[in-house]
Amino acid sequence: MSTSPIPFILDCDPGHDDALAIMLATASPEVELLGVTTVAGNTLMENATRNALIVLDMVNRPDIPVHSGSARPLVRELRTAASMHGDGGLDGPVPAAPSRSANSTDALGFIENILSSATQPVTLVATGPLTNMAKVVTDLGHLHHMIKELVFMGGAIGLGNWTPAAEFNILVDPEAADIVMNSNLTKTMIGLEVTHEAWLDDSHANELRGTGACGDFVAELLDHFVGFHQDRFGWQGAPIHDAVTIAHLIDPTLVTTIFTNVTIETESELTVGRTVVDVYSVTEKPANTHVGTHIDRDRFVTLLMSRLATLS
Ligand code: RIB
Ligand code: CA
Repeated sequence: MSTSPIPFILDCDPGHDDALAIMLATASPEVELLGVTTVAGNTLMENATRNALIVLDMVNRPDIPVHSGSARPLVRELRTAASMHGDGGLDGPVPAAPSRSANSTDALGFIENILSSATQPVTLVATGPLTNMAKVVTDLGHLHHMIKELVFMGGAIGLGNWTPAAEFNILVDPEAADIVMNSNLTKTMIGLEVTHEAWLDDSHANELRGTGACGDFVAELLDHFVGFHQDRFGWQGAPIHDAVTIAHLIDPTLVTTIFTNVTIETESELTVGRTVVDVYSVTEKPANTHVGTHIDRDRFVTLLMSRLATLS
């Protein structure tokens, strides 16, 4: 029985894997991307906004609005991942300049308008630091009932990827993540245990290369992103972290989750940004998040590659 597409807003910081998340979303009838909001993280907010517009040009979706959001974390100075994604945030391809400007600089206002006029609860997906999402929690409490759930890429049960303790998105704005985790929103955390299995390598780039403008664009993104992970970590491929959030909406059987308490470290200099996941329920803290523990890698890769192939 066909069901209507899941309406959602993507809050992101493109970023190579954010770009692939946008492309997967626009190639998948199971979901309806109502709009993109941007946040500083991988790169400056201006770059993230430009990159989101470029990606939407690539998939010929000028109808999907882009609204820029927070240019810095709630209280801390911004740190970017320019070493991974390049100064402009999307090193590799050399695309044309975006065909349009952002629809506004008011991401929160856009989210508020969507939630206010929605006829059914809307899903929020976040694939960058949670700065904008924290503002949704604090400033849009009167509309939380119109948020079906927040699915976010971030955190880890075990080791971090930007410090030994912290994953990048949470590390950039731990105060925002703390506000989100303490909120009443239904939350799903797609962390590193899941996304580190969701990798693509040179073979996937070569499979798409030469299949059209989108295929070449993805191949060039992967050339950079895979090459970075091969050089920096010695891995075969690059984890396409953010695309897993979209795949999870498309097929919730891909990712296995546990419902438990997640608390954010915001004080310690050594472990700030850590998602403390009470896997064995050893604390009295109430469960507040569905935490990804495993992904069916083969079915994820098949889904992602088959959908990307339709874009060319
Ligand atoms: O740690 C991975 C996350 O940080 C991904 O969202 C990537 O795009 C970067 O933002
Ligand atoms: Ca991201």
